[in-house]
Amino acid sequence: MILYSCQDMGFRFGADTILEHINLSINEKDRIGIIGDNGAGKTTFIKILLGEYAPTEGSLFRYGKITSDAGYLPQNAGLDSDLDVYGEFLSSYSDLIRQETAIAELEEELKHCTEQQAPALSEKLNAMYDHFVKQDGLTYKSRAESILRGLGFDKAMWSLPVGVLSGGQKTRLALGKIILRQPKLLILDEPTNHLDAESLSWLEEEIKTYPGTLLIISHDRCFLDAATDKTLLIENGSAYLYHAPYSKYTELRNHDKAYLERCYKQQQRQIAKIEAFIEKQRQWNRERNIIAAESRLKQLEKMTILEKPSDADQTPPIHFEIETLGGKEVLDVCGLSYAYPERELFRALSFQVRRGEKVFLEGPSGCGKSTLLKTLNRMNDLV
Ligand SMILES: Nc1ncnc2c1ncn2[C@@H]1O[C@H](COP(=O)(O)OP(=O)(O)OP(=O)(O)O)[C@@H](O)[C@H]1O
Ligand SMILES: [Mg+2]
Repeated sequence: MILYSCQDMGFRFGADTILEHINLSINEKDRIGIIGDNGAGKTTFIKILLGEYAPTEGSLFRYGKITSDAGYLPQNAGLDSDLDVYGEFLSSYSDLIRQETAIAELEEELKHCTEQQAPALSEKLNAMYDHFVKQDGLTYKSRAESILRGLGFDKAMWSLPVGVLSGGQKTRLALGKIILRQPKLLILDEPTNHLDAESLSWLEEEIKTYPGTLLIISHDRCFLDAATDKTLLIENGSAYLYHAPYSKYTELRNHDKAYLERCYKQQQRQIAKIEAFIEKQRQWNRERNIIAAESRLKQLEKMTILEKPSDADQTPPIHFEIETLGGKEVLDVCGLSYAYPERELFRALSFQVRRGEKVFLEGPSGCGKSTLLKTLNRMNDLV
């Protein structure tokens, strides 16, 4: 079944063309990795699919029954919530929670009602209870709690306000909420950003066994290989769908590029030859030379000129200019500790960093890596 079909679809922000002439279909059970450079239009494409933006050219068909209930993780999804971890996680079940409250209220009413009222109230209670059980009302809490633990939120963290969680912890909680709901279509915009190694392998396992349709924007090649089997490249406003996971796609794409480059160079040589011929004929300037030149000019005009294949895959070199060279001892940390009122992050850290060293900071999500960098930065200001 086709979930989305784009026909000559295009999108502009004002005068800027972001996407043009997109012709492709996304089918049920497709598992597509969406790739492309920063600013290529990947998030914009997803937002068009989700109906947040309307195409400015062409058309988009959506199979509403499934697409309107997509589980969507936006790029840099920071959860903005006043609830605690447990309350926020269970908010996906707001309907079941409402039913639970209504059942408890009705049970209370039944305890205090008259004999005449009792049969009608019992019947209503039974109907509500049956409905509640059918919607997994008896098991939702244990399922949610086991996912929360799987995500690395042990019971001690359930009462923490969402606001104090680290970037990675918020992403994990947002992902968990979506997966808990088990939607038939998952759209994840860079889900692996901020995830530590443990959460990344949790997500990989969840996604591998996920039976629905999957659209994932990611720059993480290993994750794409594990999670998807088709690759959609967005480049220079166009979209190219490859029926291959990321690694295989790279081979196909390189092959395509080599072919396009050969065609382009061959045509450029042919054009140069014709132009040289025309130039010579014009110099000789006799009637038959002018006729010959004009005929070749027409030949040139009729040609479909190939565009130069882009070098988008080549990463531009980055240079940092240093005005003055610092001393050899860059950092000398001695006995550094940091604690929030409710939690100690690190104690008595001591280390040195010398000029030219490149330090890799590793640790599980929420262990205090960003706090350490912020603390070091503040100390630098004080010095
Ligand atoms: N609301 C907006 N108004 C104007 N231009 C926008 C708007 N949103 C995005 N753009 C521009 O559209 C282009 C595509 O942006 P988009 O966010 O889709 O890129 P992306 O491929 O998701 O990039 P990244 O890998 O950095 O997330 C960019 O040039 C961006 O600056
Ligand atoms: Mg994006």
